[in-house]
Amino acid sequence: MKIILREMTKEDIKEVLEIEKATFSSPWSEDSFQKEIVENVLAMYIVAEVDNKIAGYGGLWKILDEGHITNIAVQKDSRGKGIGDAIVMGIVDYCEKNRIPNITLEVRESNTVARSLYKKHGFIDAGKRPGYYSDTKEDAIIMWRKRS
Ligand SMILES: CC(C)(COP(=O)(O)OP(=O)(O)OC[C@H]1O[C@@H](n2cnc3c(N)ncnc32)[C@H](O)[C@@H]1OP(=O)(O)O)[C@@H](O)C(=O)NCCC(=O)NCCS
Repeated sequence: MKIILREMTKEDIKEVLEIEKATFSSPWSEDSFQKEIVENVLAMYIVAEVDNKIAGYGGLWKILDEGHITNIAVQKDSRGKGIGDAIVMGIVDYCEKNRIPNITLEVRESNTVARSLYKKHGFIDAGKRPGYYSDTKEDAIIMWRKRS
């Protein structure tokens, strides 16, 4: 299976939204993605394509020397095939090329799949934000990947 990574454009938003809506209980709106891609100069989003279809995406905010991963999702039928891996590697690679040594994110405490994915790529647990997720009041685990 060939996975192609490239930067997200506004033409990708409709396809990305389908994955977003099927994945998250409080999905971002089309307008939010538009603002991120078109207006937010601090944002960088990548998509992973398989057979010319978007199978996943991930995003980053660049704040000085820190990268903040905003979201990562893979289409349900395409999970477990290395696409999440490729997206995280793409984001880490982008940060390394753009002199962003440290990357952080928040993840639901119960999301063992995503926590395992991030851990595999050098992120470590660094704290907790109690009740961070407004829908379920679940705690967020804060993870950091720091270049040594
Ligand atoms: C998290 C997510 C992006 C992973 O994408 P994926 O393409 O399925 O992941 P991959 O196949 O590339 O697997 C990469 C790693 O993720 C972890 N992982 C993937 N599936 C897993 C599973 N079923 N159980 C435990 N760990 C798993 C493993 O660490 C795996 O590495 P390994 O294969 O060497 O064990 C995907 O499950 C998803 O979209 N989940 C819903 C959205 C979400 O939770 N996003 C993160 C929000 S912070």
